[in-house]
Amino acid sequence: PKKIILDCDPGHDDAIALLLAHGSPEIELLAVTTVVGNQTLEKVTRNALSVARVAGITGVPFAAGCARPLVRTVEVAPDIHGESGLDGPVLPEPVIELDERHAVDLIIDTIMAHEPGTVTLVPTGGLTNIAMAARKEPRIVPRVKEVVLMGGGYHVGNWSATSEFNIIIDPEAAHIVFNESWPLTMVGLDLTHQALATPEVRERIRAVDTAPARFVEELLQFFAGTYLEAQGFVHPPVHDPCAVARVIDPDVMTARHVPLDVELSGSLTLGMTVADFRSPAPDDCTTQVAVDLDHERFWALIVDALERIGDP
Ligand code: BDR
Ligand code: CA
Repeated sequence: PKKIILDCDPGHDDAIALLLAHGSPEIELLAVTTVVGNQTLEKVTRNALSVARVAGITGVPFAAGCARPLVRTVEVAPDIHGESGLDGPVLPEPVIELDERHAVDLIIDTIMAHEPGTVTLVPTGGLTNIAMAARKEPRIVPRVKEVVLMGGGYHVGNWSATSEFNIIIDPEAAHIVFNESWPLTMVGLDLTHQALATPEVRERIRAVDTAPARFVEELLQFFAGTYLEAQGFVHPPVHDPCAVARVIDPDVMTARHVPLDVELSGSLTLGMTVADFRSPAPDDCTTQVAVDLDHERFWALIVDALERIGDP
């Protein structure tokens, strides 16, 4: 299995990403770290621990990270994820305890404790923790196998005309992460807007008929409502599991090698992820963008993970 650290801000789609990572036989979940984003650090951390209980995750360290972005003030997303950050289902009392370390230290310790080239970072929130880790311990950068992140978009934004939430909430952190020398795949809105939870998909999830599957359906029900109201989507795009799916099965999507950077000074374009599609890409290009999703294959991974989790 592929070893990953999931850095997240649950968050409806983050919760599904965590279930997918836990249920997939292709993934070894080394650690889960949380970062301010969809809600305050305190809320998203509690949500992560509640989801761990739903999924039956034990023996994986969970640690809380940065409570605010590097430079900007905190911006949360209650219009999409509710006041708790995970509105909809009843959230069970956590049974596992937080690791005492700061998430940045857990990320560093985990990467340094494993063979170089074996640990993949999967950020599905703002990039504050990842940027801090790279700055605090630069030796992690060449040791990381790859960063596969949900964030950005080369054609579309969702928090501004040009910019996606995970990038615009901490653009300076994103700039650091996108400009490090590690291989990086951006699974952005261009891709995740293809991962729609259609009625057919939701029926397949309901048919799994376990407590975690019902939890996912309750998440999707709430998420569908806010995505319709706030963003005009008929079926909600389930962003974060796309990054995990890319690690499980790279063929679940196509990707292109293109130079990428993050806009820090544009008055209209702050946080835009700028992709240079001119050909040929430079030989030393370490960045890729996800382009086309195999919808059927993607949802089959989610259903399979839920079936394997069963009723813990
Ligand atoms: C991203 O923003 C968050 O609200 C979601 O969890 C996802 O990571 C989509 O723009
Ligand atoms: Ca997220």
